Amino acid sequence: MTQEQASVITIFGGSGDLARRKLYPALFQLYRHGILRDHFAVIGTARRPWSNEYYRDIIATSLEGEAGAVSDAVHAFASHFYYQSHDVTDADHYVTLRKLSSELDDRYQVGGNRLFYMAMAPRFFGIIASHIRSEHLLSANGYNRLVIEKPFGRDFASAKELNDSINAAFDEDQIYRIDHYLGKEMVQSLMAVRFANPMFKAVWNHDYIDNVQITLAEAVGVEERAGYYETAGALRDMVQNHIMQLIAYVAMPEPESLTPNAVHQAKRSILESLKPLTPEDAAENFVRGQYVGDTPDQPDYVQEEGVAADSKTETFVAGRIELTDSAWTGVPFYVRTGKHMTRKSTQITVNFKPTKQNIFAPVGCNELAANSLTIFVEPEEGYRLVINGKQLGQDFHIGQFPLNFRHDANAIANAPEAYEHLLQDALAGNQTNFTRWHELKATWQYVDKIRQAWDASDVMPTYKSGSMGPDAAAALLAKYGDHWSWDGSAND
Ligand code: BG6
Repeated sequence: MTQEQASVITIFGGSGDLARRKLYPALFQLYRHGILRDHFAVIGTARRPWSNEYYRDIIATSLEGEAGAVSDAVHAFASHFYYQSHDVTDADHYVTLRKLSSELDDRYQVGGNRLFYMAMAPRFFGIIASHIRSEHLLSANGYNRLVIEKPFGRDFASAKELNDSINAAFDEDQIYRIDHYLGKEMVQSLMAVRFANPMFKAVWNHDYIDNVQITLAEAVGVEERAGYYETAGALRDMVQNHIMQLIAYVAMPEPESLTPNAVHQAKRSILESLKPLTPEDAAENFVRGQYVGDTPDQPDYVQEEGVAADSKTETFVAGRIELTDSAWTGVPFYVRTGKHMTRKSTQITVNFKPTKQNIFAPVGCNELAANSLTIFVEPEEGYRLVINGKQLGQDFHIGQFPLNFRHDANAIANAPEAYEHLLQDALAGNQTNFTRWHELKATWQYVDKIRQAWDASDVMPTYKSGSMGPDAAAALLAKYGDHWSWDGSAND
């Protein structure tokens, strides 16, 4: 549904990597599709003293290779962008921003709508939010919305402090906390798979599901982000947010509707049912690792630029998570994520229990394999359901047959990217695909326990770049009689 959205969008961190790689292309696609058209302006702020012309060139460069980025369209789009050099700690600078916002509001007849996007170092989020309020950047006659990038804190205490400072300036229904995984097509599709198919609805619980596995494997290493990554590690970078959100989507009860409140309530019930970890549980059920080069030209993590030679930052995590929710008693959620793994792929596999009654035993089939459903989130997008069937032939032998579907590569290329989805949602005032404080609270409190257990120990297994993590990750599942489900081929 295309409905033009009117807004003055202010991006704090307008010269940054995220803005260039994700936000400008996403805004351009919204423009191309008519969601942004005539009644919008974007103010980019950062410390550097840029002119509007220079900034517009940056915008144009960031769109190279984007679908529809022909020069007239790029030029027309970029003409809506304005640059304001800004020191986030200087109150006077917000006065300048306020004047520019209302000038642009008049020029583009925006009607008072304001979207503030925080795409810079999180230590500034609180101070920006409070200045927005104290220097009267909030508009009286339209909406005021705050979009916040991750990381939202680095533990429960800092997340709470950040949340309190933002809440002092914005109400919860004005806050849009980004977890870009919630903007991904196949993550959104989880709800469709679960709640639009009676065949899955009927069996989505501990009676029928043996375990759930979530792998977020990355091929890249730490790249140029060591400064940030050294303060985070894989646990904070990927588990507290993306993986926990995926668990919530896989496990949540059916919400009454797709409204933000109904979905958040359902997710919250799951995240608040994360089974509390004792220090022993945490040490027993979570494995960390750090990559080392597999060949002489591949650096070890500790040799990467900006990484301390004695760094204890994990680039890999695997864990076994349990929920106390009655639908999920006894069902482990095995999760893992890491840099420099075999290949980039996000896969969610639901392993069902094998059928209890085996009428095929008399004809030689002593064990029936379990069904499984895999959702391929990216880069390939699709589903695989493995069922049992009869093998061709005179004898009655049971075999496993995968029913496979993958979205076509062209269709994927034309589908909206996560940031496009999320920006459109924020402009339309739809908070469903954003995270709420109680979700963050529950996940930080859980993850803090793992961190504490690790901080009390020096054990840091290594794994070779290009592998699926340290041996300890396989051993973790073997201990429970399980093994990792993983499709290693790129395009089956
Ligand atoms: C980000 C992490 O949140 O997600 C990065 O900070 C990671 O370290 C990225 O590379 C992965 O996102 P995607 O969309 O490529 O799976």
